[in-house]
Amino acid sequence: MSEEKVIILDFGSQYTQLIARRIREQKVYCEIHPYTYSPEAIKGNETKGIILSGGPASVYDTAAPRIGPELFHSGIPVLGICYGMQLMTSVLGGHVAPSKDREYGRAQLEIDQPYQIFDGLRKGHTYHVWMSHGDRVEKLPPGFIPLAHSANSPFAAMGDLERGLIGLQFHPEVAHTEIGGEVLHNFLFRICRCSGSWDMRSFVETSVRMINDIAGGERVICAVSGGVDSSVVAALMHKAIGERLTCIFVDNGLLRKAEAQEVLSILRDSFRLDLRFVDAGEEFLDRLKGVEDPEQKRKIIGELFITIFEREAKKVGTVTYLAQGTLYPDVIESVSFKGPSATIKSHHNVGGLPERMHLKLIEPLRELFKDEVRRVGKELGLPDRIVYRQPFPGPGLAVRVIGEVTAERLNVLREADAIMQEEIVKADCYRDIWQSFAVLLPVKTVGVMGDERTYENVIALRAVSSLDGMTADWVRLPYEVVGVIANRIINEVQGVNRVVYDISSKPPGTIEWE
Ligand code: XMP
Repeated sequence: MSEEKVIILDFGSQYTQLIARRIREQKVYCEIHPYTYSPEAIKGNETKGIILSGGPASVYDTAAPRIGPELFHSGIPVLGICYGMQLMTSVLGGHVAPSKDREYGRAQLEIDQPYQIFDGLRKGHTYHVWMSHGDRVEKLPPGFIPLAHSANSPFAAMGDLERGLIGLQFHPEVAHTEIGGEVLHNFLFRICRCSGSWDMRSFVETSVRMINDIAGGERVICAVSGGVDSSVVAALMHKAIGERLTCIFVDNGLLRKAEAQEVLSILRDSFRLDLRFVDAGEEFLDRLKGVEDPEQKRKIIGELFITIFEREAKKVGTVTYLAQGTLYPDVIESVSFKGPSATIKSHHNVGGLPERMHLKLIEPLRELFKDEVRRVGKELGLPDRIVYRQPFPGPGLAVRVIGEVTAERLNVLREADAIMQEEIVKADCYRDIWQSFAVLLPVKTVGVMGDERTYENVIALRAVSSLDGMTADWVRLPYEVVGVIANRIINEVQGVNRVVYDISSKPPGTIEWE
């Protein structure tokens, strides 16, 4: 994928992905692999450095994850962070022991030698760093010198400068370590001698070449939904193979107000994609008649999507590949340190399609994080309305109309939701929010409008902040914004006389109500 890369071996730290992000921010391509990744695979020409992540184990546990000494003799610089440092110490003949006073959280690091990894920092000066360890290095391995200490770690940083081996007891990847950026920069550019040429333009260029190598001459189909991932995949594939790409957009009738038209006009008119549009709203509504159970709704929607997509794809002719917007967090999750994740994502809508249609998969975004995908989208010229679109669930408004989904109830929700989006954009909050939406509840409440008693629907408003959708907190929207949204919904949407604001976090709640 790139001329140079850094390999991160994962020992189970909660910060492993964060290390990867910080490296990529410095324009160096990196990959995360389980610690069992073969040393031969690591030692390719393009590997400029290796990082050993932290992890929850103690190097003396019998079941502790370990690696052999050969990586340290390969000539490739290695940075061990926390558990990674302790492992390096233990493997190379130093000594690690439980610390009397554990260090968790903020600590003061005093630099003893500003060599290489601390270039630009001052000897004898202290800096705020983030620590999280129970064990500590008590004796350095032969060939290493101490580079820094803290109150509870006599060797908070160590290095064998000849071999380019560095150990850090603190976490340079977290924001609380004020010198984290400099330290990682020094490792990448002074010690590993990376060039830092990886950016989204070079990603697009290499991807286009790679896609052509793989799918040269073949026909590819791609499901688009209007979300950023599938739109970026479509635009990238189109740049690579032009007319050999056919995109299929199944409108399940569960999209937001005016969404289908907007997506169509952007992708078809401005991007000139061969885009087949299937208006399947009635088919979906028909199947959802009388269904109230959330999982059953999801199952019906997922299966019907596959059936319709397959039906449409057959009209395209002989197709070999399906292009899909899998992102890096999904990939890591399935190969992670702990083995395949137990999380069952019933929400991968195209799941099952490749096998059923005998299609091979192309996943051009499988190395990227969401914010990188957005940057690729900008690079490819997609408009901000798509690039910065908040995530939207595959089953769409069906999981936001609580209870039975009918055309009338969908309409009530659509109107309320459109008002919420409009006001969130107007208040300039849209991009800072992971998701903001309205939910139609299956209860009626009493109200009074004019002199009349009303007995109508309740709308719940939900706005959450999140990094990846796995955990989330409710957004403290300004009262005035919530007030305007509620007021407008009650006044403008027929059938709603009450609006409430959801203040649950995830966990224990989920982002969607169903
Ligand atoms: P929850 O509700 O589980 O949602 O906290 C986490 C993220 O996943 C989205 N989501 C879905 N996406 N199909 C999808 O494509 C689904 O069935 C589905 N359910 C939830 C949700 O919008 C949030 O971003």
